[in-house]
Amino acid sequence: MTFDARAAEGPETPLPPPPASAPSDVPDTTAMATESHILNPRFYTTDFEVLDRVDVDRVRDEWDALLAEMKADPNRGHFRKTEEWEHIDWAGMDPVLRAEFIDFLVSSCTAEFSGCVLYKEMKRRGTNPEICALFSYMSRDEARHAGFINDALREAGVGVNLGFLTKTKHYTYFRPKFIYYATYLSEKIGYARYITIFRHLEAHPEHRFHPIFKWFREWCNDEFRHGEAFALIMRADPKLVSGLNVLWIRFFLTAVYSTMWVRDHARPAFHEALGVEIDAYDMEVFRKTSHIARQVFPIELDIDHPRWRRGLDAMNRAFVAMDAARQKTGLGGMISRGLAGGAAALAFVSLYTIPVKRNTLPQKVRLEPCY
Ligand SMILES: [Fe+2]
Ligand SMILES: [Fe+2]
Repeated sequence: MTFDARAAEGPETPLPPPPASAPSDVPDTTAMATESHILNPRFYTTDFEVLDRVDVDRVRDEWDALLAEMKADPNRGHFRKTEEWEHIDWAGMDPVLRAEFIDFLVSSCTAEFSGCVLYKEMKRRGTNPEICALFSYMSRDEARHAGFINDALREAGVGVNLGFLTKTKHYTYFRPKFIYYATYLSEKIGYARYITIFRHLEAHPEHRFHPIFKWFREWCNDEFRHGEAFALIMRADPKLVSGLNVLWIRFFLTAVYSTMWVRDHARPAFHEALGVEIDAYDMEVFRKTSHIARQVFPIELDIDHPRWRRGLDAMNRAFVAMDAARQKTGLGGMISRGLAGGAAALAFVSLYTIPVKRNTLPQKVRLEPCY
C-alpha cells in the first residue's frame, strides 16, 4: 500500500465512510494527532543548507552500499493489506483496548508521517545529489508506513487527515546535529520495538489481535536502514560524536528512552492484550537499542544502574500527576502543574546524571538487523 494521496490533499477532503464493523463512539483522530503535547510525536524542521553540505567521503564504501540497498526498494510490495483486515470486529473490541489501540495507531501514524514530511522537505530543499537521493528513499518508505497505519485506522472508521496535519501541526526547529541524534534514535528504537513485538507474537500468536503486527518484521528493516544512514552521516564527521556533543547524545538518549517509558505505561490494556509486560518489554527495547547504538555513540546509558528504574518510575508518576493537574482549574491547578513539572525535571536530572558506560567506536559502522 502506498501513501494515500487522497488523505494528503487537504482539510476539505472527506474521509471514506466507516465500514460496518466500525464502532460508533470514535474519537477525533486528526485532532489527537494535531495536539502538541510533550510526549506526542513532533514535526521537525531544520537548517537545510547545513544538511546539504554533508560530506560522506569518510564512510564512502558503506554509504554507497546502503544507498544501493535503498534504491533496490526491497519492501516495494510489502505494504498491501489482505482480506483479513476486513474481518476485524472493532465494534466488539473491549472499549478501553480499542481506545488505547487507536491511540497507539494514531501516534505511530503521526511519527511515521512526521519522518515523511521532514525527509521530503530535505529532499526538496537540497542540491547535494546523494543527500537528496537518501531523503527521497526514506520519505518514500515513511509515506508507505504512515499510509498503511492509516488504512488500519480507516477500517476502524477513523483515519488521520495527513494533509491537514502538515498544515496545522506545530513544527519544532532543531539544529541538524540534533536531528541526527533524535532521528537516529527514533529509527533504531522503532526497529527494536517492532521486532520485539513481532518475535513475541510469533511465539504467542493467540495475542495477535490485529493483523497489522504481521507486517512488522520487513517494516522494521526499513527503520533499521534509515537509522544506518544517520549513523553513517554522524560517523562521517567525528566532531558530531565526540567532545561536548557527547553530553547532547546523553541528553537525547535519556529523553528518548524516558519518553518511551511514560508513553507505553499510559497504554496498559493494549500491552495486556498483546501479552506484553510493559517494564520488561521496554527494558528489552532499551537493551537492543543501546547495543545497536554502539556503532555510533561513544557512550551508553547504564540501564542496569539501580537509579535507572527508580528514575523512570518517578518520571512516569510526574506525568500521571501532570495529566491529573491539567483537569484542575485556578490556583490549585497551577500549583499542581508546577509541582508535577518540578518532579519530572528532578526525575530527568536523576536519570541524566547516572554514570554512563564508555564504548570504543568500531571501524566498520554498518550493522545488519539480527534480532
Ligand atoms: Fe517508518
Ligand atoms: Fe524510518
